[in-house]
Amino acid sequence: MTSQQHQRAAGKRAFITGAAGGLGSATARMLARQGAKVFLTDIDGDAVATVAADINRQAGEKVAWSAPQDVRDEANWERLLAEAALAMGGLSVLVNNAGIGSLGAIGAIELNEWRRVMGVNVESVMLGCKHAMAYLRDAQPASIVNISSLAAFKVDPDYTAYNTSKAAVAALTKSVAVECARQKIDVRCNSIHPAFIRTGIVKPFFDKLGEEEATRKLVRGIPMHRMGDPDDVAYAVLYLASDESRYVTAAELVIDGGARAV
Ligand SMILES: NC(=O)c1ccc[n+]([C@@H]2O[C@H](COP(=O)([O-])OP(=O)(O)OC[C@H]3O[C@@H](n4cnc5c(N)ncnc54)[C@H](O)[C@@H]3O)[C@@H](O)[C@H]2O)c1
Repeated sequence: MTSQQHQRAAGKRAFITGAAGGLGSATARMLARQGAKVFLTDIDGDAVATVAADINRQAGEKVAWSAPQDVRDEANWERLLAEAALAMGGLSVLVNNAGIGSLGAIGAIELNEWRRVMGVNVESVMLGCKHAMAYLRDAQPASIVNISSLAAFKVDPDYTAYNTSKAAVAALTKSVAVECARQKIDVRCNSIHPAFIRTGIVKPFFDKLGEEEATRKLVRGIPMHRMGDPDDVAYAVLYLASDESRYVTAAELVIDGGARAV
């Protein structure tokens, strides 16, 4: 891209969790291609460092930084947000993307597993929103993008904890959005709800059922009859991170090939 061409995220400084994974790394690459600086974290520190190094190779030095982060650790959130703001010269976008799947219908759920899912998928989002707010307030207009799931609205009963965690993320998102509006600060907060995208999180399903059967099952309820690509989500994050979405807050952006409608 030449410097004359419009970059949709020019000047944005984004903190992205779970950025070693399928959707997080695609989002990081997308935002960097569109002119943002990106600070990437993941519990897999080596993998996320590789993503950051790759972005810097392509986009130029000091576009991407990385650090290991367990998103359940509050003190680490505070430390890394400060580190990210120092590295990038502020923070205007937070993408709460890290998440885990978990199999279990109500009769089979262990309390420890339930708490693990809520910790990674929900508490982390609360901690991120809470501790990033001071930085985002200083960088208005700013944006929080929380990666929920279609599972917030349409459930497979075999994934009770996951469904519940993603519905909680949608409610948390709206609570943050309305509070920011009430305080008259231009920090928007929206959730994204993808259906099935081929990443690490759906791998166990493919490993269990095999390629053909897993694909057939996953696309069954999707009018467009196919899975999505990581970039389908990354484009949605780009829109919500950029000022193009300046009047959009407390929204639930569904990326699902039509699945919610049927
Ligand atoms: N792929 C899909 O079909 C799909 C659909 C709907 C929603 N989502 C959501 O998208 C988000 C990204 O998932 P993905 O599809 O890229 O899967 P992924 O497994 O490829 O990526 C998830 C990343 O989160 C990281 N992670 C896990 N636990 C962590 C922790 N405690 N702290 C920090 N990082 C941690 C993992 O190391 C991994 O890199 C998740 O929130 C997921 O629930 C995915």
